[in-house]
Amino acid sequence: MYNNIFDTHAHYDDERFSEDSEELLSSFLSDGISGVISCGVNAESSKANIELAKKYPFIYAAVGYHGLNTEDLTVDYLEILCELVKEEKVVAVGEIGLDYHYEKETRDIQLEVFRRQIELANEYDLPVIVHDREAHEDTLNILKELKPKGVVHCFSGSVEMAKEIIRLGMYIGLGGAVTFKNAVKPVEVAKFVPEDRLLLETDAPYMTPVPFRGKRCTSLHIPYTAEKIAEVRGIDTQYLLNITDRNARMLFNIKSYD
Ligand code: NI
Repeated sequence: MYNNIFDTHAHYDDERFSEDSEELLSSFLSDGISGVISCGVNAESSKANIELAKKYPFIYAAVGYHGLNTEDLTVDYLEILCELVKEEKVVAVGEIGLDYHYEKETRDIQLEVFRRQIELANEYDLPVIVHDREAHEDTLNILKELKPKGVVHCFSGSVEMAKEIIRLGMYIGLGGAVTFKNAVKPVEVAKFVPEDRLLLETDAPYMTPVPFRGKRCTSLHIPYTAEKIAEVRGIDTQYLLNITDRNARMLFNIKSYD
């Protein structure tokens, strides 16, 4: 059994956990999970994650507006976020960023809200958790310009892009996608990322690793992702878990229990 399993990206406020979250989350510490960042995607989900963080010692919250939730924001959305970041156990602004997979019309507002949230994170000296789906160029340009601390989660770019992110002092988050049969770029990136810049994540309930695809993902699946990354890097899985736990604590400024 492994320990020091730190899941830097999950959504435990998601309705797919509503039935058994108590039972599931209560089991985590005895299953070697050392920490979880549960990420908001709008104001309501950010608040729900803050509540989870208050309830479970190993859960921390990230608060923010996902790129796909930027269209119907009220004018006071930044003031709301300003209040949320001051709450107990909020360790990051996220998940924020750009999602160009769907219609093009929302891109301008996505860009605007992404920028404003990074500026707010910088003002409060908090890291950002960045979502980048089919928006590599704009994401990189904004990160270069505003230079936040943080992580590009579920990293789907090339090794070249990973190099640029690392040059900015940011981290690369890798999850279940590295285990997928058609994974090429994530595996190349998993090989390349310097030891001190790598974070593990699930994006639970999404992105379930092989061999559980199609099932609900939870932080308990991290070892499958970790084993794959350790294999391509030629290192021990527990060693990888140890260094990624340390990296997560460094970035999100979270002390170890022991
Ligand atoms: Ni996510």
